[in-house]
Amino acid sequence: MELSCYAESLLDIEAGAVVLFCFKDDKPHGDELEKVDLLSGGVVSDMFAREEFNGSLEQTVMLRSVPESTAGSIILAGLGPEKEIHTDFYRQAAGRVSQMALRHKISHLALYYNGPDTRGVIQAMVEGVLLGSYQFLDFKTDEKARKEVLKRLDMVVPQRGRLRAAESGMQAGEIVASAVNMARDLGSRPGNDLYPESYGKYAQKIAREANLKCRVLTPSQIKSEKMGALLSVGQGSANQPRFVILEYNGGRVGSQPVVLVGKGITFDSGGISLKPGLNMEEMKGDMLGSAVVLAVIAAAAKLKAKINLVALMPLAENMPSGIATRPGDIVKSRAGHTIEIINTDAEGRLILADALDFADKFNPQAVIDIATLTGAALYILGYAGAPFVGTNTKLNDNLRMASEKSGEKIWELPLWSEFSKLMDSSIADIKNSGGRPAGTITAASFLKKFIGDWPWLHIDIAYCDIEPSGRPYVPKGMTGFGVRLLLDLILNWKKVK
Ligand code: BES
Ligand code: MN
Ligand code: ZN
Repeated sequence: MELSCYAESLLDIEAGAVVLFCFKDDKPHGDELEKVDLLSGGVVSDMFAREEFNGSLEQTVMLRSVPESTAGSIILAGLGPEKEIHTDFYRQAAGRVSQMALRHKISHLALYYNGPDTRGVIQAMVEGVLLGSYQFLDFKTDEKARKEVLKRLDMVVPQRGRLRAAESGMQAGEIVASAVNMARDLGSRPGNDLYPESYGKYAQKIAREANLKCRVLTPSQIKSEKMGALLSVGQGSANQPRFVILEYNGGRVGSQPVVLVGKGITFDSGGISLKPGLNMEEMKGDMLGSAVVLAVIAAAAKLKAKINLVALMPLAENMPSGIATRPGDIVKSRAGHTIEIINTDAEGRLILADALDFADKFNPQAVIDIATLTGAALYILGYAGAPFVGTNTKLNDNLRMASEKSGEKIWELPLWSEFSKLMDSSIADIKNSGGRPAGTITAASFLKKFIGDWPWLHIDIAYCDIEPSGRPYVPKGMTGFGVRLLLDLILNWKKVK
């Protein structure tokens, strides 16, 4: 999409549609809206009176050929009551508008903004449009499907004095939304296209573009690293594991990095503990944790974050075969702990265990892992948010702050000893499944055995990774959940220890 930014008065904007954002009220208010009402012969007042459109958050309405306006139409987008306004409401309203534009085949949109916090609001609006109009078309061969997309987005402010702020907001919004959409793309790509080897190459390409250091460990290098847990997960597949290491140094030389770890199962069949067939195709998205950390480190670099970052992506395909790991097998992790494999479908924690142990090499100030780890997460927060655990209350609080700002919801679960006991094995150091009760926490308790003496956060994005029906700026399909949450945390990073 082509993005630009300029100063112009509302009625002189040229575009397929101009968008004017409105607060909820009992009659049209604001200079521009009152003018539009007057020009259109009181149509707007009328709609307010009948509550057909009165600025509620879920409302959008299109006014065609308003006299004296140079645009094809003016779209009014509701924001809800002015005193309850949150930046995310602009993101939502812009997302709704972008979907309306897609439906009406409007290829050129202009968003008009005349209010406080120009930079922050413009950023949210750009995110809303780019996220809301997202479509995954890589595998559509029909030319028509590709043409019906939004081609141009203008951000318009009334005075030139606001242009600098608007432009910087627009650029940030574009970087953030592209990062989210990159994660969505990766999650949408099927297992025969995105597998550990091709994924490793893709990460190298992204690293070149964002100026990141990147290493991709091959199976033999993974063996030399003694990552027996990662190898055991990948051994049943013809697509052998990889381990991606990305580094960004935007902080002071020698300052301890924050290490991000993302689960990268490019397809999870369950292995010998085979999953049921229903919805198994969704398991191509079992690499979304790794897509999130890749997107976050690349976007942090583009936004010149003043921090040192490392991203680790253990990549494997979990398949059943004659050489696959069996239930009952005992494998040795990089940390030296032996693990009894109760269920080969509990593979995410195995590859994360080796990655968390590897993270220690970097002398991290904190480690954050993100993973589509447990189906049980569905029964905790559904599709609405992600359960998390953490070992440092300040870091937990900072994550809550990032969640409040980004609108990506999270909720903390307890790490009681009752749960870690469920992971004790009678013949090995630990087992990989504690059964059904508290499945999300027992998985987290398993991971905790592999962390070092650093603050740790674990975010389970199972089910938040997929949107079942569609929301304003989250179309049906892969959500890219976690990218904006972690970017906010990283960009506003505060030392916690
Ligand atoms: N990738 C799945 C978790 C998952 C399920 C994510 C559904 C998104 C949607 C994970 O590898 C898994 O299979 N976990 C098992 C663990 C169990 C065997 C202890 C689960 O949750 O059933
Ligand atoms: Mn699994
Ligand atoms: Zn999995």
